[in-house]
Amino acid sequence: MRVPVVVRVGVFAVLVMGSYAMFANSIPQIESKPPQELSLEGGNVTPAQLVKAGEEIFHTKGTCEICHRIGQKGTRAPDLAGIGARAAKTKPGMSAKAYILESLLQPAAYIVEGYPPIMPAVDKPPIALNRSEVWALTAFLESLGGNVDVTLNDVPATVGAGSGGAGAVAELKIPGDPKAGEAVFQGKGTCIACHKAGKIGAAQVGPDLSQIAKIQTPDYIMKKILDPKGAGTVANFPPGVMPQDFGTRLTSKEYVDLLAFLLTLK
Ligand code: HEC
Ligand code: HEC
Repeated sequence: MRVPVVVRVGVFAVLVMGSYAMFANSIPQIESKPPQELSLEGGNVTPAQLVKAGEEIFHTKGTCEICHRIGQKGTRAPDLAGIGARAAKTKPGMSAKAYILESLLQPAAYIVEGYPPIMPAVDKPPIALNRSEVWALTAFLESLGGNVDVTLNDVPATVGAGSGGAGAVAELKIPGDPKAGEAVFQGKGTCIACHKAGKIGAAQVGPDLSQIAKIQTPDYIMKKILDPKGAGTVANFPPGVMPQDFGTRLTSKEYVDLLAFLLTLK
């Protein structure tokens, strides 16, 4: 459930509180309280405030840390240390802020070598950041080695139209039974042999799926079960290990139930 609260610049400090202790684990569990909406449009914000707000979003609502770390390699996604400097050189003729915005809004437009194209657009569900949040996040990423020069006008006005609030996109309803899907996960699907999912499982052959619905689209999850190779191998996990034949081994009811279960993992 999403509780939109328009936070004005006056109460900015609320957002900037941070508890980083929870990131001690290598696979972080992001807080699950309802995310707040940040609105900065029309407000006077200093670059320092913007960067601070962006950092907070990076660590919490953005869920970025489930895939990316700053100053640590070996995760599902590129280390973002120094991205503010690197972004200015990645695509010839493209400024740092333009590259960072493109990375956030159209991740597939440029794929960092060695990684699969699995990053979801951050202004669409499930991450669903609004325009102010994308602005702040861009400022924070620029600050990692570069100069903060992004303005609200750099962020297209259409960004975040599907991010929640009054015009929220209806959540996709999978007509499956999550309880039956959990049984498939543990039984016939043998998923548990390689994956942890919340309270069940402990295996680390494949990625921890405990928060998969928080960071991935239903589309990706559906495709990954039927065609693991085609969906792109998650970085730093072995390719070709996830069985490729679930599409023929599971009945359609088992598949839909399994999906319904996976979509509860937030
Ligand atoms: C599901 C995992 C996942 C999540 C969640 C995710 N990313 Fe990514 N991100 C990736 C992967 C994988 C790549 C590399 C492939 C590509 O270029 O799309 C990437 C690429 C990037 C890049 C380009 C990096 C470079 O070196 O050029 C930036 C910037 C970025 N992500 C920022 C973010 C931010 C900020 C968030 C949170 C709002 C986020 N990502 C959430 C997986 C993720
Ligand atoms: C023999 C081990 C194995 C089994 C069994 C297995 N997987 Fe996987 N799975 C992996 C590995 C390894 C990866 C990461 C490499 C890749 O992307 O192929 C992965 C990746 C995934 C991902 C992508 C995770 C991410 O962070 O993007 C999903 C979703 C997934 N598996 C779901 C399932 C489901 C559902 C089942 C049961 C129907 C299952 N897997 C069975 C090994 C397995």
